[in-house]
Amino acid sequence: MEELVALCKRRGFIFQSNEIYGGLQGLYDYGPLGVELKNNIKQSWWTSMVYDRDDIEGLDASILTHPDVLKYSGHEDTFSDPLVDCKSCGERFRADQVPDYCKEEDLTEPRQFNLMFKTNVGPVDDGASFAYLRPETAQQIFTNFKNVVDSTSRTLPFGIAQIGKAFRNEITPRNFIFRVREFEQMELEFFVEPGSDEDWHKKWVENRLSWWEEQGVSKDKLELLHVTGEDLAHYSKATVDIMYKFPHGLEELEGIANRTDFDLGSHSKNQEDLAISAKTAKNTSSNAKLAIQDIKTNEWVVPYVIEPSAGVDRGFLAILNESYQVQELENGKERVVLSLKPHLAPIKAAVIPLKKNNSELVDLAHKLKNELQNLRIGRVVVENTGNIGKSYRKHDEIGTPLCITIDFDSLEKNQVTVRDRDSMEQKTIDISDIPDFFKDYLIK
Ligand code: GLY
Repeated sequence: MEELVALCKRRGFIFQSNEIYGGLQGLYDYGPLGVELKNNIKQSWWTSMVYDRDDIEGLDASILTHPDVLKYSGHEDTFSDPLVDCKSCGERFRADQVPDYCKEEDLTEPRQFNLMFKTNVGPVDDGASFAYLRPETAQQIFTNFKNVVDSTSRTLPFGIAQIGKAFRNEITPRNFIFRVREFEQMELEFFVEPGSDEDWHKKWVENRLSWWEEQGVSKDKLELLHVTGEDLAHYSKATVDIMYKFPHGLEELEGIANRTDFDLGSHSKNQEDLAISAKTAKNTSSNAKLAIQDIKTNEWVVPYVIEPSAGVDRGFLAILNESYQVQELENGKERVVLSLKPHLAPIKAAVIPLKKNNSELVDLAHKLKNELQNLRIGRVVVENTGNIGKSYRKHDEIGTPLCITIDFDSLEKNQVTVRDRDSMEQKTIDISDIPDFFKDYLIK
């Protein structure tokens, strides 16, 4: 983990947030390369969920959330962690995360601590007009259920996908970007006919496992955990967690929950007119019926929901951990390489002029860079350090799949040298063939 943290800072993937003022615990900022990798992970999820399928729509809803949403969702009552104080060291911990140096007899009885952040809305700070910062993106998918159905004429089964920030006032944020107070989720709420939920749950577990493997996460570092008993969220009938062997241990990467008709039922008006199977609190505030009409029978059905919910930041850490390698070379030296899948690499190709101060080489490098950039496949840069070896080392370390060197043969014979990150093989290719080579390499 220390090596990853150091690489992230050195190369500009991740910085501690608010660092110049001493930092704020549990917050991180994504730097120039981090934002690219993060965007690529999110784009890969969005493509696989929304574009590659015909049964999912997208959404981007607000972060500030009406208190009633989180009252009826059950979060006001149940979204808490047990907190203990240590009378000896004076610190507070989540009851299941007390460090070894605190003795049992020094700990207070656990009390529940709600994890939701509240903020004032409007100019008067009297505590009455507040909103929550959403603790999950899911709730605003449920509150928009009718809007999406009415505007798209969707019928079951179908899903709504959303990527966005969520906030939790974690008692003990830890393990770098694994447990943080502000994070990003990629959530799908997939609405199905009651009775078909268990089959869909299985299908989604399989689908999500394959997706992580396609991002370069190896099968032997993934495990499925069937969540049981007290660990099951208040809305869930069954949850399968995809667990990953992080540097700090086996932990959840993504949860796939069967949320039944709990959420749509909880947010509906006139609940007594609907056949809701989950135990929901009486809703006296909602003005909507979150159900869908069966076209054959005309009956109103409250769909069941299967929810694959993945953490972007955790995914980032897993992908970084998977791709990070220190390789011993034949010449006895070492190289650090991020063997990221090309579609995730922050920079797709670096164009490197052999000499820093030769304007013909540098101009040609910029021309080729612009041509590749205009293919809209991802970021391409000119690396004008004048030191080829150093440029290769840097781009290995940040996972750039291709380095293209412009030398005097490029001027005389229109040829460039292309070096592959993983094999370190170098090929001479005509400049005019480079755009097709680049496309073939990156779009597989
Ligand atoms: N929506 C599930 C979660 O945030 O854990």
